[in-house]
Amino acid sequence: MIRDTVSAKRPTDSRGSSAVPTSIDPAKFQRMDQPTAVCGTGDFNVVFIGAGNVMFGSDEGPWNHSLRFEQKLGTRLKVVAVIDPAIERAEIVLKAKCGSSVAPAYQNSRIFESLDEYIKNKSEVDQPRAFVIGSPPMFRGSVHPGRDVELQILKHFPGVAVFCEKPIATGPKDEITELFAVAKQVKDSGVVFSVGYMLRYLKAVQMMKRILEENNVTVMCTVARYACAYESIAKPEWWDKSLSNGPIIEQGTHFCDLSRYFGGEVDISTVAANSLEWNETAGHLSKLRIDESKIAPENRISRVTSANWKYESGAVGSLTHTVALQGVNYSCELEVFADGYQLKLVNPYVEPILYVRRPGDDFDETHQFEGDDPFFTEVSNWIDIVEDIEHDPKAPLILSSFTDACKTYEFTWAIREASERSLQNRKKSSAVDKTTS
Ligand SMILES: NC(=O)c1ccc[n+]([C@@H]2O[C@H](COP(=O)([O-])OP(=O)(O)OC[C@H]3O[C@@H](n4cnc5c(N)ncnc54)[C@H](O)[C@@H]3O)[C@@H](O)[C@H]2O)c1
Repeated sequence: MIRDTVSAKRPTDSRGSSAVPTSIDPAKFQRMDQPTAVCGTGDFNVVFIGAGNVMFGSDEGPWNHSLRFEQKLGTRLKVVAVIDPAIERAEIVLKAKCGSSVAPAYQNSRIFESLDEYIKNKSEVDQPRAFVIGSPPMFRGSVHPGRDVELQILKHFPGVAVFCEKPIATGPKDEITELFAVAKQVKDSGVVFSVGYMLRYLKAVQMMKRILEENNVTVMCTVARYACAYESIAKPEWWDKSLSNGPIIEQGTHFCDLSRYFGGEVDISTVAANSLEWNETAGHLSKLRIDESKIAPENRISRVTSANWKYESGAVGSLTHTVALQGVNYSCELEVFADGYQLKLVNPYVEPILYVRRPGDDFDETHQFEGDDPFFTEVSNWIDIVEDIEHDPKAPLILSSFTDACKTYEFTWAIREASERSLQNRKKSSAVDKTTS
């Protein structure tokens, strides 16, 4: 099944401009906590690439794609293969699934240690309808063998839909040009390709988009604040810039993406940033769950990054990302300003609340979104598009295409580089101060 990457029925870019409808009617969202009508017929064969947290859940957060696929597809779901070099990890999760009520989806799942192995040994009767990529980002977004999973899928499984986790890549900055070349191949293939920027699928976010579009106002400013709960982040690679590229590219990316969703394209040349580093007095953390001494000093991550930029529209944006909170819950807020409007999204990961101030009223309306699950909505929406179920011209559309996700990736790299530049400049000027005093 072949469709345009953003939507077959809509303009192909999502730039946050009111000229381009980029929202879905929140009333159309299905709820994860209520029975889902099973659409379509026959088995829906899926290949999961990666058997880790995002695919099968963990105590790090609410992500767990397998659960959403089970809810959406019910008995139609057939996970034909799980690909993960950590075979034992894949065996453990499959064993747990096979001992549960969703066993029929997994009882014939085969485990492969690589996509190559799967390609060599796949069975003709188990043709996949879709791939879900939840492996670490260093294995995608590139043209280099072993890091080119999307291109391999396009080559060996033409037309088969792909859902891929964010960030779209993690390589050296100078590979961004190659990444856009991969994006072009994905777009030209016409495959249904969705990237996991799930916050775009929050009801609250769609409501914000609607308010701006319906009142025909232009975004003047976005203010993003993202505070993760670092105590709950136990993966050593997350703390190592040489592996994950740091918290803006790996995590703050969600709010960089959301900022772009509202503000439009960023003028990359305007990005400025400052950071608080691990070896500055204020950067000391007392509840690390990993042993940071095992990470080379130059690869340890910033504790705070504060960035600002201009959008191509002239609007201004800012982001403050902190690695400061303990416990489990993140504290995140995004404010969007337009003439007469303040739209303030609070706590999008845990219990989204939207405060809306409109012209003619100095007080905020408060909106809550009980039972909203953006992880479910992004999967549900993508499956509906793969199955071409919606014939409504206002049908769901993919809110994060490969090309769009590449722009977010480029933007996050610009923030990281700006903060590193500023740090170098500070070091240089303090060295000059010392020699002149
Ligand atoms: N959207 C979200 O909120 C969200 C949340 C968590 C993770 N993620 C993203 O999902 C991706 C995976 O994160 P995670 O937390 O599941 O990591 P994880 O480390 O828990 O799991 C990754 C799995 O991939 C396997 N793997 C490694 N190389 C592979 C390869 N070449 N092919 C297939 N599998 C391979 C690993 O063995 C591991 O089992 C990352 O890009 C991350 O940023 C997104």
